[in-house]
Amino acid sequence: MTSTARLSVLLAEPIATIAPALHGHFAEHLGELVYPGIWVGPQSPVPNVDGIRTDVVEALRPLGVPVLRWPGGCFADDYHWRDGIGPRDQRPDRLNTHWDMAPEPNDFGTHEFMAFARALGATPYFASNLGSGSAAEMRDWIEYCNHPAGTTLSNERRDNGAEEPFGVEWWGIGNENWGCGGQMTPEHYAEEYARYRTFAFDFGETPVNAVACGPNGPDWAWTQRFFDQLSRGSLGSRVGRVQNFAAHYYCGTAGTATEFTDAQWLELLTKAVGIEGIITGHRAIMDTFDPDRRIGLILDEWGTWHPVEEGKPARGLYQQNTMRDACVAGLSLDIFHNQADKLVMANIAQLINVLQSLLLVDETRCITTPTFHVFSLYAEHRGGQAVRLVNTSDVISTGEGAAEAARRCFTDNRRAELRAVSGSASVKQDQLCLTMVNADPRQPAEVEIELRGGGLKAASLTTLNADDIHDHNTFDAPDTVQPGASMEITETGPLTRITLPPASVSRLIGRL
Ligand code: AHR
Repeated sequence: MTSTARLSVLLAEPIATIAPALHGHFAEHLGELVYPGIWVGPQSPVPNVDGIRTDVVEALRPLGVPVLRWPGGCFADDYHWRDGIGPRDQRPDRLNTHWDMAPEPNDFGTHEFMAFARALGATPYFASNLGSGSAAEMRDWIEYCNHPAGTTLSNERRDNGAEEPFGVEWWGIGNENWGCGGQMTPEHYAEEYARYRTFAFDFGETPVNAVACGPNGPDWAWTQRFFDQLSRGSLGSRVGRVQNFAAHYYCGTAGTATEFTDAQWLELLTKAVGIEGIITGHRAIMDTFDPDRRIGLILDEWGTWHPVEEGKPARGLYQQNTMRDACVAGLSLDIFHNQADKLVMANIAQLINVLQSLLLVDETRCITTPTFHVFSLYAEHRGGQAVRLVNTSDVISTGEGAAEAARRCFTDNRRAELRAVSGSASVKQDQLCLTMVNADPRQPAEVEIELRGGGLKAASLTTLNADDIHDHNTFDAPDTVQPGASMEITETGPLTRITLPPASVSRLIGRL
């Protein structure tokens, strides 16, 4: 059987510009991400530039990493930045308290991270330590990074090799402070946030763009109570002290990373579409405090979370990545584009070797995952104008448990719907970019693409799929899941018909 769908692209109904930061990333000191995923040290036989792996930079540069969050995650609230500056042989040995008490040599600190971010062309986004640190420690880190010269801290940065300020604008004020960042109530965190934010000064030319810790998935009470608390204050409401508010949503797993039934495939993808409700639900609560949308909603952790790969450390969060993860990535990015008026940044967790990563790296080898290829296909949307897409595709049935889990992600309690085909569209000058996921693990889909308000003059289609839904890339077979060659579409004009293979992610580029 083949499913049928019509996707109507409403060219005259813009949503918002797709901020490149919606395709953002996250690198935490966790498992094998930093060591050896990024850092091998200058003396390593593994090719590197000043200690940073050449293969990793070469893999990520063409993709473009718009923004990179660091150093955590949970790690951030027990990280003391001074441990990671100055001569490496004098830096302290610490324990990564959140992640298995793994040794943390502090070889990769502020300067090394900035070198990595610059090599990738990524905007840095630092998460500061509110949980076990102090407002003074955070304030000093900002001055160290951003003040040009002439103060003890800025001179120390220069003595450590960075003449010019790092210009770090994005500062998270803690991470998951409802959990690993201090087990706080929203009221307590709101007070701490207000205190820390007071001391997050704009040094030199760099304004601080502060990010407050938002909720865990559909925890509506966190958002409501955080803003309620901030709206009180002896000098009036302090809501204006928040520039951004960051929620986390992991769709989790069903089965394992590489072993799952068709029902589990559908279960996970249904939970993945719950992310739409997280965006619309929290934004709706924020709108009551911030009707002009001056505060940016961020999703700075999202993705799949499978059981750890056999043979890997339990708390290292290393997992494989199949076509199912690729579909989760496609569905999520499409939702971000369709909600581009409500979301300013999203960071998949995480970049290398941890959770839904883009690269898998061992001591000497580096391979790309199916999720990497989705980000690569979707990069064409960045900076485009998202336009409304009307979708008549069938809802694919899923187990009641998954539907219930996804339903909890919507404040209006509407049933979260996984459609056989879904997508997003954007326009850049005379170019249309339309990305689509066929979420059905077995049925191809015949799709009619209707352009309302225009027609396609020429178009090509590129598809990522595999022989088997469990397919993934390994160090021995790194090219099992790769996008196919682009195919010219002969039928253009206002109505174009294409067929999408089952379990696939596709990108159509057309000239209007
Ligand atoms: O991404 C892994 C962990 O998930 C992060 O450290 C934490 O913020 C979240 O719970």
